[in-house]
Amino acid sequence: MTHEQALTSGYTISDDLARFDLALGHRWISRESYWSEGIPLEVFKRSVAGSLTVGAYAAEGPMVGMLRVVTDRATFGWVDDVFVDRASRGHGLGKALIAYVRSHPDLQTLGRFALATRDAQGLYAQFGFGPLGAPHLWMEIRNRDAWRVPTSPP
Ligand SMILES: CC(C)(COP(=O)(O)OP(=O)(O)OC[C@H]1O[C@@H](n2cnc3c(N)ncnc32)[C@H](O)[C@@H]1OP(=O)(O)O)[C@@H](O)C(=O)NCCC(=O)NCCS
Repeated sequence: MTHEQALTSGYTISDDLARFDLALGHRWISRESYWSEGIPLEVFKRSVAGSLTVGAYAAEGPMVGMLRVVTDRATFGWVDDVFVDRASRGHGLGKALIAYVRSHPDLQTLGRFALATRDAQGLYAQFGFGPLGAPHLWMEIRNRDAWRVPTSPP
């Protein structure tokens, strides 16, 4: 079931994948993001399909922002690909996207809702996100070239 929220500003936020503009989202993330520059369309497409992917839409229809929550829709969520079109920034859409996922019905039982950001801590802090409580517990395999160089499993 899709979840839609109308903003007083006239924008709509929705997780309906049928509305999501894949080509535009890919252009934003592959060309204008600092975290996934160069991501191939095929990989981006799978990431969108496998996530709770959200778009913000202007009244006339075009998509003006996005984010994804990588999630099991029960216990864990990872916020990624938060992006607002340059022309639409500074009018509260970024905050509306975060508020939308914080109140999304499928994300109300998460034991951990996490994200990483280079410089937007002040955005997420307004919605309850804070520094890791116990960073020494976290481990990761980091491969910044994952889409560029095929890797063999260990
Ligand atoms: C970050 C981004 C999504 C914000 O979208 P927006 O619609 O312009 O944001 P809003 O108008 O809702 O306001 C953002 C709020 O977060 C704050 N903020 C903190 N760090 C910020 C940052 N690095 N960039 C933008 N806003 C930031 C702003 O001050 C503002 O708070 P305020 O209204 O209390 O002053 C948008 O600038 C963007 O797409 N940037 C490029 C991609 C990016 O950096 N994404 C985030 C990756 S973690």
